[in-house]
Amino acid sequence: MALRINPFKPNNLAPVGMFAGRIDELRLLEGGLNQTKHGEPTNFLITGDRGIGKSSLLLFLDAIAKGDVTGLDGGKFNFIVISLNVSDKMNLLTFMRIVENNVRREIGKTEVARKFLADTWSFVQRLRVMDSGISGSVDEQDEEVILDEFASSLAETCNRIVKPATGESKKDGILFIIDEADNAIPELRLGYFIKTVTEDLQKNGCNNVMFVVTGLPETVEKLKASHESSVRAFHPVKIKELLPPDRKRVVDLGIKKANEINSEKTSVTEDAKEQISSLSEGYPHFIQQFAYCAFKQDTDLIVDSKDVMDSAFAEGGALDSIGNRYYESDFYEKIKSDEYRQVLTIMSKRMNSWIKKAEIRAEFTGPETKLTNALKALTDRRIILKNKERDGEYRLQQRGFALWIQLFGNRK
Ligand SMILES: Nc1ncnc2c1ncn2[C@@H]1O[C@H](COP(=O)(O)OP(=O)(O)OP(=O)(O)O)[C@@H](O)[C@H]1O
Ligand SMILES: [Mg+2]
Repeated sequence: MALRINPFKPNNLAPVGMFAGRIDELRLLEGGLNQTKHGEPTNFLITGDRGIGKSSLLLFLDAIAKGDVTGLDGGKFNFIVISLNVSDKMNLLTFMRIVENNVRREIGKTEVARKFLADTWSFVQRLRVMDSGISGSVDEQDEEVILDEFASSLAETCNRIVKPATGESKKDGILFIIDEADNAIPELRLGYFIKTVTEDLQKNGCNNVMFVVTGLPETVEKLKASHESSVRAFHPVKIKELLPPDRKRVVDLGIKKANEINSEKTSVTEDAKEQISSLSEGYPHFIQQFAYCAFKQDTDLIVDSKDVMDSAFAEGGALDSIGNRYYESDFYEKIKSDEYRQVLTIMSKRMNSWIKKAEIRAEFTGPETKLTNALKALTDRRIILKNKERDGEYRLQQRGFALWIQLFGNRK
């Protein structure tokens, strides 16, 4: 067998051709684009766990918004898309400068457009000086003024591209995709920023800007902390695990891709897909990882359940790789105490089913207070879940985590 290119992507976003499911979410977002195009701007707050597929969904949205692909409901769009990832180093001023840089890159393609942008965004020159600290510190009042200028510059820019000067192409509006918003620090004032800018845009007669903000579930709290009512500016969308048919489709799409790029043709058995589907629990990252390892394991051009199982549980295999990325920091870095780890190890024997505190106590070798503290700390850090319906019951969030603890949890 020749060397084959492995099509599965455990460490990269899923390109449109390998993307499965999320029909409802894509339709909802397409509806938002349509609204925004027609002067009814609609914003979305997309949240979901690590590896659930938020950024890949955004990549698809980006392609629809730019008109690279047609929407599921037939929408054809022509938005300017400005995509940025929030980092934990960004304050409001750096954020606005990054936006301005992106606007320049996306819109300033002609001499006339560049001249227009230079005039409209002239206040950014001042930002550079302020952000570098030359003129002393920036207080909230300064920020207020700058935000106001920012919003009117953005409104002017957007109004110009939707009603372009002669010789310029007409656009549907501007889509902002703001990913990894869970990284937002208080100095970014992200909730406040979006609330203020969306209201100011409206006041400036600009109704064709859409914001899509994405991040881990704690993003909601971060936005609220920044501005209590800011989340009301958004339609909330929670990204959930993929359903079994979509999980299998991810595998099929990968195999299809493999057969496009390799001369030797590979197939996959129904059993293998079933295994990958159930091991993954619907987390697309896990599907890609299990499928990647199974494809690598396979030597006879038929990916079967033995390939899946052998590669899933081996040292350096799929579960081990997933653990390196997702679980190890929970297990070793976020948790400094061996007793806490012992609690997790006891709980993992039940996989991710509920277990009573009394049952944990029966095996736990430390004192009662330690157990109580451990359960509280682990719950606070969202490493375990507390049963809201029944007192004194806890469980691990994911079966994968439980399996990983059992297989690799005492390696260090
Ligand atoms: N709908 C999908 N179909 C196929 N593969 C997907 C899909 N969504 C995500 N993936 C794959 O799952 C993995 C995780 O996806 P992605 O990076 O988009 O998740 P995320 O939620 O942004 O994760 P993080 O919280 O780490 O930023 C990637 O390997 C990606 O290729
Ligand atoms: Mg992401």
